[in-house]
Amino acid sequence: MIVKTLLFLCIVLTTLPKSSGTSFGIDVSTKISVEEFKCLLNNNFISVTIRCFESTYGNPSGFIDPNCGNSIYNAWIAGFTWIDVYMFPCPKCGNATGQVNTLVKYLSDTFGYTTMVWVDVEENYKPPYYWSKTNTTKNVEFFSEIINALEDNDITIGVYTSKYQWTSIMGKYTGGSPYPLWYNHNDTKPSFDDFTPFGGWTSPASKQYFLQYSICNVGVDLDIKLLAKPH
Ligand SMILES: *[C@@H]1O[C@H](CO)[C@@H](O)[C@H](O)[C@H]1NC(C)=O
Ligand SMILES: *[C@@H]1O[C@H](CO)[C@@H](O)[C@H](O)[C@H]1NC(C)=O
Ligand SMILES: *[C@@H]1O[C@H](CO)[C@@H](O)[C@H](O)[C@H]1NC(C)=O
Repeated sequence: MIVKTLLFLCIVLTTLPKSSGTSFGIDVSTKISVEEFKCLLNNNFISVTIRCFESTYGNPSGFIDPNCGNSIYNAWIAGFTWIDVYMFPCPKCGNATGQVNTLVKYLSDTFGYTTMVWVDVEENYKPPYYWSKTNTTKNVEFFSEIINALEDNDITIGVYTSKYQWTSIMGKYTGGSPYPLWYNHNDTKPSFDDFTPFGGWTSPASKQYFLQYSICNVGVDLDIKLLAKPH
């Protein structure tokens, strides 16, 4: 009996993912209710990253994601204490500082606090394109202005991108690498084994490993994090 129990324990322990120091999170771009967030929390997702700013070229009044406020509030009520946001800026709209200030003002007016902001650096595979396709210097200038404006507001910064996206948009620029990296690779594997350095980053903080996962009746993206709650 003891042998059987030990054997069972061995099997259980060796089949658990090797995830010491990691945790699971989700990111969302739709409105999630309190009940849905409670269900997600019960499924061991301890952090949530909410889209708060959209790159809506040609619609300058629509920068703030209208679902952001409700989702942050609902996540908090449901019991999440680790709530980040991500910002999909609009390079072709110019005024990077103004875009950051719009986001920061929204967060502080709505909640009286600001949280970690992940700057989303990605491009569409077909038009409309957000970043310059021909001039990485221009993209670097815009990105730097976003970062500086976030720094000026004392915001904890992270960068969301992928090796392909970063190098095609920013070229060889490494100015994002002082900040934690959240990279995307939709390989459905909650593991960092696939990571290879780029853009000055030698290690990741987080990986978005499953896009458009369906759970708790909502569509979310799944993330694995090495990062301890940084704020
Ligand atoms: C930049 O954006 C801010 C906030 O939206 C706005 O108040 C400011 O007038 C803009 N500045 C320029 C030069 O467009
Ligand atoms: C690329 O963008 C930079 C910064 O905006 C600008 O100085 C430079 O002239 C641009 N280069 C070309 C080829 O358009
Ligand atoms: C990500 O991968 C999953 C599983 O293979 C697939 O169902 C989903 O459509 C993919 N999403 C994107 C945006 O590629």
